[in-house]
Amino acid sequence: MKKSRIGVLTGGGDCAGLNPALKWVVKTATDERLIKERGIQYEVLGIHDGWLGLFNVNPAKWENGTDIVRLNDDIVRTWDRYGGTMLGTTRFSPYDPKNDVSKKIISNIKKMELETIIVLGGDGTLSAAAHLYKDGVNIVGIPKTIDKDLPETDYTLGFESALNVIVEEVDRLRTTAGSHKRIFVVEIMGRNAGWLALEGGEACGAYIILIPEYDFSYDRINELVLEGKKSGRRYEIIVVAEGAKPAGGKQILKDKTTDSFGRATLGGIGEVIAAKIEKGTGVETRSVELSHLQRGGAPCAYDRRIGRHFGIAAVDLVVNNLYGNMVCLKNGKIGCVPLTSIFGKTNLVDPKTYYDADRYNGRRTILSSGK
Ligand code: F6P
Repeated sequence: MKKSRIGVLTGGGDCAGLNPALKWVVKTATDERLIKERGIQYEVLGIHDGWLGLFNVNPAKWENGTDIVRLNDDIVRTWDRYGGTMLGTTRFSPYDPKNDVSKKIISNIKKMELETIIVLGGDGTLSAAAHLYKDGVNIVGIPKTIDKDLPETDYTLGFESALNVIVEEVDRLRTTAGSHKRIFVVEIMGRNAGWLALEGGEACGAYIILIPEYDFSYDRINELVLEGKKSGRRYEIIVVAEGAKPAGGKQILKDKTTDSFGRATLGGIGEVIAAKIEKGTGVETRSVELSHLQRGGAPCAYDRRIGRHFGIAAVDLVVNNLYGNMVCLKNGKIGCVPLTSIFGKTNLVDPKTYYDADRYNGRRTILSSGK
């Protein structure tokens, strides 16, 4: 019987949903019945720490090292219950302009006889995967990121679990906010995309939601806060995306560093808004950054289920030699798109469709055209 070796790795920021997908990659590739039907005996090797594992590995002695682990049904049996990634992850890029190591990675893939690589990643990791595919590596991608900013798919693993965290944490904040009659500004991740803030804000019933796709005015925020106060509201929850900014202003960066994909770290806008509200309205205001809590915890039911389906679909692509593709979810159906189709694109919120720019909140008409 033909033998074939698959390598699987997770890259970029971790999130809930990665482990269910990994489990189902392994289970599908190594299933006895499917092996007989396909006539191919797959072996799955887990690569630790994203692309870094393929860079660090000694291809002649990988079985004795710590970069690669042989995976089987037994090892991955319980993985779908856990958050994060059992393989570990880094933001290490093969094509870092400051240190391009793609040639070494491609050579290690060949030396280890990895016929295919299945990559679970966000825009940085999957863009690197698209480059490697162009450079001759058989690659298949699985989309994941709590930001939901990848184009060509309606879903990225981790998003729904992160929404659940936002709802839980805001529920917790409500009691203290109410007791003290305070405003709470809750800063949400998402980089330049407002999906997590918008859908998280809608789910938790935030009074104001600020997204990067619509520049806000401090005066309007204060006006809305005072309006709420006048109507007798004890407290308010304001959700702000880390990438949101005032009209004519700039995004707030945590520091001056960038990752190996050249991206800056956003953060701090919540605190600025809280200070402006307190000064402008006299209402006591606090800010909270939910930060990495949003990526933590066990995957929710949706991430376990879609993780499973994405994992199975990725192996289907491998079996059918459909390399250079990313599995995706579109209009409720699992499908695939070329990895190169994500190049240079970001899935952002269209404020005209999804945002009420007057109330700074989720849309208030959905079927206005009757459709
Ligand atoms: O891309 C996922 C994400 O959580 C973003 O929402 C956030 O801006 C960034 O990663 C944080 O990166 P790090 O984990 O490197 O601090």
